Parts: sequence; structure tokens; C-alpha cells
Amino acid sequence: MTIQWFPGHMAKARRQVTEKLKLIDIVYELVDARIPVSSRNPMIDEIVANKPRIILLNKADMADSRITKQWLDYFNLKGETTEAIAIDSQTGKGLQQISSLSKELLKEKFDKMQSRGIRPRAIRALIVGIPNVGKSTLINRLAKKNIAQTGDRPGVTKAQQWVKVGKELELLDTPGILWPKFEDQMVGYRLATTGAIKDTIINLQDIAVFALRFLTEHYPDRLRDRYALEEIPEDIVDLFDAIGTKRGCMMSGGHVDYDKTAELVIREIRQEKLGKLSFESPVQL
Ligand code: G4P
Repeated sequence: MTIQWFPGHMAKARRQVTEKLKLIDIVYELVDARIPVSSRNPMIDEIVANKPRIILLNKADMADSRITKQWLDYFNLKGETTEAIAIDSQTGKGLQQISSLSKELLKEKFDKMQSRGIRPRAIRALIVGIPNVGKSTLINRLAKKNIAQTGDRPGVTKAQQWVKVGKELELLDTPGILWPKFEDQMVGYRLATTGAIKDTIINLQDIAVFALRFLTEHYPDRLRDRYALEEIPEDIVDLFDAIGTKRGCMMSGGHVDYDKTAELVIREIRQEKLGKLSFESPVQL
């Protein structure tokens, strides 16, 4: 799904998330483990404000685990009411931590409620994130067989449904969709390389130039191995020529087809043919 983020859409998205925040105890902010900052909403701290939050580094199965560890340390230093965990929503890896961590973060609030005589209830949570980060996959995974909804709550519009996750957690069944920070060109390239934004928005060759320069700097061995390069040419056109020639991305007349080469490189990165990659690290901040 391609969403055009115009100011009006952003204002509406923000309003919708703010409305949902009134109903919940905790926010699960979903980001892409390969680009945890570029895949965040730029106003997320302001929007979520003081609600307890768990940052879920999703698609950790595709990220460089060494860098993911650095990100976890980075986010976990941020504050007492924000924690981070790495998950893979497709297989469910890491998801079992969500409920226990939520309980920990909300212990004080729920203890207080109990001491005031309020009956114990399930923790209510909302998943928020930019498009394509895996929100629906996570909701479906968490909901599993517990798809039986708890029904409407008084004062809540009919469309708002809750999904049970075990006995102690309830999730709003529609996530909060927020926009990425697309004013920054590098953010755009990272989102495009990982497939978070559609290829038509940024020129494919530009995305491949970004990705190949990044790989040359951070993962030179992977690049050399994948494309059987003895040396990585410094000049980007030479690098395109070397990869294109090796992989038969040619036009008639024996010239390298740069579009085809760019498409191949991007596809192979997304298919993990160059292994597990992270495209930003806390060291860069
Ligand atoms: P959204 O609701 O936030 O927009 O995202 P959605 O769940 O639709 O997920 C977007 C794509 O990311 C899906 O791929 C989904 O399978 C994949 N995905 C979600 N979580 C994970 C994860 O933890 N690991 C991996 N490897 N993939 C994950 P798709 O349906 O194939 O879409 P696309 O590839 O055509 O974009």
C-alpha cells in the first residue's frame, strides 16, 4: 500500500493515534530492526508523550545481530518507561517477552489501581508504526487463535475492537499508522533499500548507488563474495559495470544495463542474498 503523506493526512493520522492513546495503557512502537531510526515517525516522542512504551525492533531476522544488540543497548538507556526488544513477527520469535515486559512497565499503575479497589483488568495496548513495518503481521501473530474479540467498550465507537493476547493483554485490532521522516534524503534511501517505500518514489539506480556505497563501506566482504569481485572498484560506475557484467545484466551492443543491475542488487539485498544487513547503527548518530 502506498500512502501519500500530505499535511492533511499527517494531521489526521496524528489525531487518530492521539484518540486511540486515550484508550490504552502502553504503546508498542514498531520499527524495522535494520533501520530503527529511519523507520520511526519523527514526532513519535511528542505524540506518545508520557505513555509507557516498548520499542519493538521487528524483522530482526533480516538484520545484522551485532548491530541489533547495539540498538537494544541504545534504546534501553533512554528512560525508565521505554524498553526495547528484538522480534520477528513472521515466526513469532521474541514475542513472548512483550506481555511480561508490559506487566513490568505497568506494575506501579496497576498496583495503584488495585489499592484503590479497582478490579484487575487486562493491559490495553496499541501498536503504532510507519507503513510496511509489520504492524498487521504482528497483530495477527499475537492474536493467533485468540481472535475472539472482547467486543466494544462503552463509549468506544463500534469500529474499535480489542483482540485478546493471553489473559492479561488486549490489543486494539487496528494499529496506529504514522508517517516516516521523508524530508531527509538518506532516510528515504534506507527506507527504499529495505523495501519500506515503493520503488517508484525514488529512482532505482539512486537506491542501488546508496546501497552499494553503504555495502562497500560496511560490508565489503559480502559484496566481494556475492558478485565474485577481486577488488571493489572505487568508482560507482565501474562497480555497476563489474556487477552487471558478472551477472549478465546487459543491453544489446554489449553495454551494461544499469536499470537491470540496480534492480538485481536491490532485489538480492531484500532477499538476504548478501546475508543479514543493518543499514544504520547507533554509532552513526
Ligand atoms: P504493516 O501492517 O505495518 O503495513 O506491515 P505488514 O504487516 O503488512 O508487513 C509488511 C511486510 O513485512 C510483509 O511482507 C510481511 O510479511 C513482512 N514482515 C512483517 N514482519 C516481519 C518480520 O518480522 N520478518 C520478516 N522477514 N518479514 C516481516 P509481504 O506481505 O511479503 O509484503 P511485501 O514484501 O510485498 O512488501
